[in-house]
Amino acid sequence: MTVLDKIFNKDEFTKDDLVSLLSLEDPLDIEKLFKAAYQVKLKHVGKTVWLRGLIELSNICTKDCFYCGIRKSNKNVDRFTIDFDEVVSEVIWIKEHRYGSLVMQSGERSDEKFVDTVEALLKEIHLKTGNSLGVTLSLGEQTLETYERWRKAGAHRYLLRIESSNRELYRKIHPDNKLHSYDTRLECLRRLRKLGYQVGTGVMQGLPGQTMEDLANDVLFFKEIDIDMIGMGPYIPHNETPLGKQVGDYSEKQKEDAVTLGLKMIAVTRLVLKDVNIASTTALQALSPLGREHGLLAGANVLMPNVTDTKFRSGYQLYNDKPALNENADESRLALEKSIENIGENIGYDLQGNANHWKKRTGE
Ligand code: 5AD
Repeated sequence: MTVLDKIFNKDEFTKDDLVSLLSLEDPLDIEKLFKAAYQVKLKHVGKTVWLRGLIELSNICTKDCFYCGIRKSNKNVDRFTIDFDEVVSEVIWIKEHRYGSLVMQSGERSDEKFVDTVEALLKEIHLKTGNSLGVTLSLGEQTLETYERWRKAGAHRYLLRIESSNRELYRKIHPDNKLHSYDTRLECLRRLRKLGYQVGTGVMQGLPGQTMEDLANDVLFFKEIDIDMIGMGPYIPHNETPLGKQVGDYSEKQKEDAVTLGLKMIAVTRLVLKDVNIASTTALQALSPLGREHGLLAGANVLMPNVTDTKFRSGYQLYNDKPALNENADESRLALEKSIENIGENIGYDLQGNANHWKKRTGE
C-alpha cells in the first residue's frame, strides 16, 4: 500500500495527514484523492445529487466584508429587494420543477421589517407548497430570538460560513469592529444548533495569507463543531473591494489552481466528515465551466441552481465573472440535468435530501 493509500484508509486523520493531502501536486495523486473521496461519498451518501433552488432575496447589506462585491461601501451596486409575491412565484417554480429544497440568501440585515418579511415568507412558502419543501436560510448573523422565530415559521436549515476558522485571518478579511466579530459568528453557529436547525458552514480557499495548515484546521473545525452541511468555494477577487484590489484579476493559471484547491478541499472534507451534505458551489463554476461537476466527482452531493429572475442577477455579484448572469432558471435546469447525467449521477427529485449526518445525530 502506498503512503497515500494508507492515509485514505485511516479512520482518524491528523492535521499533518490533511496538510499532505491538500498539498498534493502530482496530477495523478490529486486524481487518486478525488477517487478516494468519491468512494467515501458513495458509501455514506450515495450518488444522488440534491438540488436546492437558490433565491437571492436582496443585495442590501449592512456589512462591509473586504472580499464581497455587495459590501455596504460598494456604491457601484444597484440595490434591489425582490417583492414578496415574486419570491413566492419563484418558490412555486422550484416546487413545479421538482427541486426538493430551496435556499433563501440575502445581504445581511436584521431590522424588524426584514425579520418580519422573512418570517411571513416562510409561512407563505409552506402554505403554498403543502409543507413539502426543505427550506434553508442563508441570511447571516441574527439574534437567538430571530433565529427562533424563523425556525418556528418553518426554516429547517441554516448556512453560515465561518469564512476562515483562523481568527487572525478572519480579522484581516473583515473590518475590525463589533459588527464583524469572529466570536459572534461562532456564537451564531451555536445558536442555530441549539434551536434544532441543520447547520451548515464553510470557508473560502485561496485567501491572501491563507496556508494549507489553515485549511486543514478548517476541516478539523467542521468536525469539531459536528456540522451537518458544508458550502465552500474558492475566493475570487471582486475589483470593487479592498481585497480584490489588493489581489487583482486572476490569470488563467491562477483560476485553474483555485479550482484545484477548491476541489481538494471538497475531497478532504468528504474523507474526514463522511456523511455530511457538501455543496459544489457557484464559485467553482465561475472559475471553470465544469467546476461544479468536478465538485460532485470530488465528493460533493448538493447543487444550488440559481432561480432568481435574471433581471436581478447583475446586482448580486459577490465576485467577478459570476456565471449564468443571463441564463434563466429553465435554461439552467436543463443544462444542469444533462451535465449530472453525463457524469453518471442522478437527481433526487421531489425529495428534501436532508443530511445523513443530521439524521443520525437526531434520529429523524
Ligand atoms: N469570492 C468567493 N466567495 C465569496 N463570498 C463572498 N465574496 C466572495 C468572493 N469574493 C462568499 C462568502 C459568503 C458567501 C455568501 O459568499 O463565503 O459567506
